[in-house]
This record gives sequence, C-alpha cells and structure tokens, in this order.
Amino acid sequence: MNRQWIYAVRPDGPVCVDNFEYRETEIPEPGDGQALARLCYLSFEPAMRTWLEDFITYMPPAPLGQPMVGPGVFQVVESNTPALSEGDLVSGMMGWSDYIVVDDQVRVVPPGTPIPVMLGPLGGTGLTAYIGLLDIGRPQPGETVLTSGAAGATGSVAAQIARIKGCRSVGIAGGADKCRWLLEEARLDAAIDYKNEDVGDRLAEVCPDGVDVYFDNVGGDMLETVMGHMNMGGRVAVCGAISTYNQGMRRPGPSNMFEIIEKRLTLQGFVMFDHMDRVPAASADLGQWVAEGEIAFQTDVQEGFENIPSTFLRLFNGANHGKQLLKVRDPE
Ligand SMILES: NC(=O)c1ccc[n+]([C@@H]2O[C@H](COP(=O)([O-])OP(=O)(O)OC[C@H]3O[C@@H](n4cnc5c(N)ncnc54)[C@H](OP(=O)(O)O)[C@@H]3O)[C@@H](O)[C@H]2O)c1
Repeated sequence: MNRQWIYAVRPDGPVCVDNFEYRETEIPEPGDGQALARLCYLSFEPAMRTWLEDFITYMPPAPLGQPMVGPGVFQVVESNTPALSEGDLVSGMMGWSDYIVVDDQVRVVPPGTPIPVMLGPLGGTGLTAYIGLLDIGRPQPGETVLTSGAAGATGSVAAQIARIKGCRSVGIAGGADKCRWLLEEARLDAAIDYKNEDVGDRLAEVCPDGVDVYFDNVGGDMLETVMGHMNMGGRVAVCGAISTYNQGMRRPGPSNMFEIIEKRLTLQGFVMFDHMDRVPAASADLGQWVAEGEIAFQTDVQEGFENIPSTFLRLFNGANHGKQLLKVRDPE
C-alpha cells in the first residue's frame, strides 16, 4: 500500500489541513533505468504555500489531484539501474508519498552526515542564508545587519554568518523563547520580539546608528518599518515574504518607497538555485562553522505520515523551532 497526501483544494486564504486529502494506492513498479524509493524524511519550506497558487512563480504551480510536491529524502528499496543500489539515500523535489519511482538522474546523498543536519544548516536553507547574506547583502565588518525570521532555518544561519563576519547582528523573531535562543545560543547582539514589542521603537533602541543590511524573510509591514531605519547606501537581501504568502501574495508594496531613493537603497531579490556555482564554497564554509560550533542550529522533527499537512502549517504560525522536518522512518 502506498500512502499519499494529495493536493486537493486550492486555498482561499490561509492554507489548512483540508487543502490536502489522504489516499492509498498501489505501490508503483519501477521500469528499466528506474528504482523504487521509500520515504524517510520530508522537509518543509514556506515557499510551498506559493506553489499552491494557480500562477507560476519561480516554480510551476503544484498540480491538483497529485501528491503534494516537496523536498524529501527517500531510500532505494528496489533498483533496475546500476546507478542506484538498494539502501542508497536519494533527495530532491519529491512528493508527499510513501513510495516513489526515481530515475538515475536523482541526487544520491553521500553517506555520513545525519539527515537533519544535511537538510538543515548544510541544506538549502543554509545555502540560501550564505548566498543571500554574503553575495546579495554584502555586509562589511562593523556594519549592522538585521535579520527577520531570525530564529528560523534560513534566518538563524544568516544572522550568525553576519556575526562571524564581524558585523553587529540583530534578529527579529516571534516570542520570548525564540529571542532568548537568539541571544544565548546564536550569540546575536540583540533580539526583537515582534509579537510582543513595537519593532520600530525597538529598532531605534538597539540599532541607534541604523541598519546597513536587512536580510528580509518576512516582507509586508515589517519591511516597511525596517526601511525607515535603513542607512544611506543600505542593502536589502529580499529572501522571502512569509507574512504575505497566506494573503494570495499580491499585496501592494511598502508605502515608504521614497526611502529607496532618498537613502540610495538596493532591494535585491534572489533565489538560491540561481547561484549553484557558489555551492561548493558555501558548503565548505558552512560545514566548518557547524563543526566548530560557530553556527548553532535547531531542527524541529515531527513524526508520522498522518501529520504531514499539519507539520507544513507549523511554518505559518511560528510553531517550528528551526528547520521544519518530518520523519516517517529512519533509513535502514
Ligand atoms: N530565496 C530563496 O531562495 C529562499 C530559499 C529558502 C527560503 N526562502 C524564504 O526564507 C524565509 C524563511 O524560510 P525557512 O524555510 O527558513 O522557514 P523558517 O524561518 O524556519 O520558518 C518560518 C518562520 O516564519 C515566521 N513567520 C511566519 N509567519 C510570519 C508572519 N506573518 N510574520 C513574521 N514572521 C512570520 C515564523 O517565525 P516566528 O515565530 O519568528 O514568527 C516561522 O517560524 C521564507 O520567507 C522563505 O520563503 C527563500
């Protein structure tokens, strides 16, 4: 039996569990040059909410009536190709399905790194943080770097790279627990609890000389507030806009756009997979910083196939502490 979560109903507002439907089907048969792989871990990204819309972003829309598309790690259980052996771990954009058929072009995961680390700080979100902060934000030692979504998978790595590079690193996150983690574990210079504090007032307090680089994971009203605190020549690395994803993503921009002219700001969006040439250098640095304890990280591993949709929703209410994963089974 092959368990699946199907993308069933397009959300009209916040995504909810009812947008997905549980189904059981036959286990697929791999053909020549293919292999059958069984789900071990799923990884969840806020951008998956944008794939539920019926327009093309940088990804095509997730097809209705099919298993929801998403990143995961699967283990080969039967192979008809010499490129893949039973027991190999494979990863990439897979689906919310217990069994899938893969071909010999699939990415084979090198053995050694624990899956939560490989999908966390050394995975796509860590690489996004590295490229977004260093190549797009271009911070200089001594500058003030502000990160929103700072306790999350991407933000926590970006904020700590800023510290490693000699910047004053300030993070914005929701709730006292996450802010405590930012100060005590991630060793940032200051943290702002946007759920209980006024972000503008706190920015004036903890960034009295303004913000040089803003690593923006949130967009919306928070971007507008931060723009009022940017310094002349400041850079905004526009990584994501999670505060808008549940609103159909067609919100108007900040009302204070004139700040961009007045302060000669650069707002630059980026998508990690346009920068694959940077992956070897980024992986080497991130691997070293994680091994040396310079980058603290949290992985939030939920369990159980039945909990896949509800785990995805955790990203939007901030229930996740760090990289959101779900384990169905450990590899054998
Ligand atoms: N450009 C790229 O290539 C790329 C690649 C990966 C990710 N991203 C973007 O990076 C951002 C972070 O993704 P992630 O995978 O690292 O997720 P994450 O930060 O681990 O989890 C999402 C976090 O967003 C915060 N959040 C949710 N709703 C919010 C709201 N309305 N206002 C403010 N904060 C809110 C929550 O933290 P709090 O508890 O602090 O509210 C939640 O924990 C997303 O915008 C994502 O789309 C971009």
